Amino acid sequence: MGEEKVTKSTAEISLSGFVIEPEDAERMARESGAATVEDLLPSLVPAAMRLVRAPISRFPVGAVGLGFSGRIYVGVNLEFEGLPLNHSVHAEQFLISNAAAAGEAGMRCIAVSSVPCGHCRQFLQEVRGAPEIRILVTADGPNAAFRTISSLLPRPFGPPDLLHKGVPLLLEIHDNDLGAIPEANGGDATCNGGGAVGIDRRLRTAAEAAARAAHAPYSACAAGFAVGDGKGRVYAGSYAESAAYNPSLSPVQAAMVAMVAAGGEEEVVAAALVEKDKAVVSHESTARIFLAAVAPGAHLSVYRYRPSDVV
Ligand code: THU
Ligand code: ZN
Repeated sequence: MGEEKVTKSTAEISLSGFVIEPEDAERMARESGAATVEDLLPSLVPAAMRLVRAPISRFPVGAVGLGFSGRIYVGVNLEFEGLPLNHSVHAEQFLISNAAAAGEAGMRCIAVSSVPCGHCRQFLQEVRGAPEIRILVTADGPNAAFRTISSLLPRPFGPPDLLHKGVPLLLEIHDNDLGAIPEANGGDATCNGGGAVGIDRRLRTAAEAAARAAHAPYSACAAGFAVGDGKGRVYAGSYAESAAYNPSLSPVQAAMVAMVAAGGEEEVVAAALVEKDKAVVSHESTARIFLAAVAPGAHLSVYRYRPSDVV
């Protein structure tokens, strides 16, 4: 009886998207014979691994996490040919960015195909209660168990070293003050003919919403990036800073997460960046480098906001 349960709950299950609603998660757990949704997570990892975009390493990493809401979020690694390796997105970062975009409030536990690297252990510190989030590594085999992040990173450097207690962390509500946002530099946004004007406006709106939701407590330079494809679909991502700076996820990477999570396959034709005027941390050059390699024909509009408390 017990043995049968183990066999069922470790069987592979297919995925239909990058977010699973709580009712579906419960149903999948029941159908697979897993005792809880948490126990279902490891059996979703192989399906997540099939969704990666890793043309450089060909090393697939799949991660699935259970949020406070009961939703399950999927994360995969992304690599970009023609760009330095630091543009890559780790599966764990994808998962958190995906959860943040869905308005998730916190993470209970994560199952991941291989052991999280130091960069991910550090990035995860941006989530409140990170030391208590539990992680299971499926590569550990049938006896793999959930262990706390604090067992993987026992003496962390993190948000408490730099921030006051009340500052919202990643997966908490952010509503950054963007003040006034003038038209894009050079006025390009209004100079495109026909349908392009429509997409430019939608890109700006999406990038603005992403900038409002960004986690940028260390630089106070909230930013959002949006890309649009040839079919007029728009995908936006929020900048997510790390206390250790380098593991930060750029708004450009976050927009790629949103595009992959939404199943976007089309070529990017236009993009918009919303960032602070005279930002001490700017993403414009990164965005241009990224677009030149990944979508050379894409047009970029940059909108620079002035927070209302800056005169
Ligand atoms: N990778 C992850 O996605 N997570 C980790 O923590 C380990 C490494 C990815 C990054 C890169 O795409 C590939 O695995 C090889 O490092
Ligand atoms: Zn990593």
